[in-house]
Amino acid sequence: MGALLSVAIALSLLPVAAGAGNALTPSAAPRIVNGEQEPADAYPWLVSLLSRSRFERDGAYQSQFCGGTLTTPTTVVTAAHCLTDQDTGARQDPADILIGFGPSLRNGGMRVADVTSLAVSPAYVRRTASNDIAVLTLAQPVTDVTPLVPISAAEVGALTAVGAPVRAVGWGNTSTDSKFYPDVFRVGRMVVFPDAVCGGGEDWVLQGLRFVGFSSSEADAAVMICAAGVSRGGLVIDACQGDSGGPLVAGDGAAARLVGIVSWGEECATHRPGVYTRLSSELDFLASVNAIPVADISLPTQAPGLEVLPRAGRLIASITPPAAGSAITAMAATAVDPTTGQTANCFAQPRPAGAASQCAIEGLTNGVAYQVTAIVGNELGNSPVAGPVAGTPIPLPDPGRITKLRALAGRTVVATVTPTDAHGTELTVNQVACAPLSGGRVVTAPVAGRKVTVKGLRPVRYTCRIEAANSYGELQSPPKRVTVTR
Ligand code: ARG
Repeated sequence: MGALLSVAIALSLLPVAAGAGNALTPSAAPRIVNGEQEPADAYPWLVSLLSRSRFERDGAYQSQFCGGTLTTPTTVVTAAHCLTDQDTGARQDPADILIGFGPSLRNGGMRVADVTSLAVSPAYVRRTASNDIAVLTLAQPVTDVTPLVPISAAEVGALTAVGAPVRAVGWGNTSTDSKFYPDVFRVGRMVVFPDAVCGGGEDWVLQGLRFVGFSSSEADAAVMICAAGVSRGGLVIDACQGDSGGPLVAGDGAAARLVGIVSWGEECATHRPGVYTRLSSELDFLASVNAIPVADISLPTQAPGLEVLPRAGRLIASITPPAAGSAITAMAATAVDPTTGQTANCFAQPRPAGAASQCAIEGLTNGVAYQVTAIVGNELGNSPVAGPVAGTPIPLPDPGRITKLRALAGRTVVATVTPTDAHGTELTVNQVACAPLSGGRVVTAPVAGRKVTVKGLRPVRYTCRIEAANSYGELQSPPKRVTVTR
């Protein structure tokens, strides 16, 4: 780290070298060499990495050593090389790092945040700068700054294709041949270079300027993105010392994504592109340290759907999560006996993709008309209450279930069944019924004992279930499939 001399980064842009550049003397008012100043409110997630001791003594400008990106309220993504001694491989102590928020390093009261831990990608290789990525975890969530979401696998094609517009942002050097570190960050507008120029050794021409590609011993496009820009005046736009760790961004506004991290280059703004850590190859690492936001969670503002199914001494509540709100983590139903006021509950397990979940409210009295309500919730709070829906437990038989269903030669199947519970009533039906999957005659056999043999089937696929009925009604077991043999 000591090697990161003074400070600050910015995007350096300099006049292009010989050849193409000759005639291009930066004219009248060369704006910030090759990057530009842009409205700071478009880059709220850009942070500066500050050395704490230097910050306390000399302020933000003198203590800035790298850039970073807030990707969630508690995580800053930066480059591994910013935090690693290049000679010894030693890591910086997180207690020595402060995260600076705000566009200017010289406006005095810069807001800073403490870092509690540092995670470097296990795949980071110092010598090649492969997988040059690290995550700093903040001591307190920063909830009033909009984070920049890392690119997802699905967005790779659209956001990092050859020629895709990207921006590098930072307080790094703005000069190629001397040191000029700006107070306010600069933005360099660039395009993504072909992979063949980023480890394939090919050259590439961008707006009339020829860029020399990196060979496979220099760069690896699987984990790196090469990018550079050419200004209207024909100057190369590139990141430079002090920009390291800062973001390479694709997309605008709410669609902006973090696609790369300033990693390395050959000098700055030469005839070679800058090299960025390819974020899409680091998503597992980022997820493992919680640096990728989980899907948006919102309060469930609608009541869930509720259906009540009567059973013997209990009520089955079937709860469907509402469309509004997300990431439901809890579902509950309550039955109230309106005459006694007694209540009983059950809790259902939320299932993915908005599917209905069921739970059984147990210990109820047959014949009592209960009032059933349901509610769902997530970490933000609970939905409005669904219901009440009336439900009266009745002593319907419990058909049990088929635990095994086996085809025997001779168009016969044998079902192994659990006992049917008549709940003290008289069963009028208790049988295994098998129906051909493609339709046709249903074949039945009475349940007597644990093994039920069903004969006279056709050699096709069947679904079989237990049917049990008494004077209150009929219930069926879950179905099981079998292919009948001749
Ligand atoms: N490694 C440099 C740093 O520590 C950043 C290099 C980026 N250089 C470039 N030409 N794109 O700040």
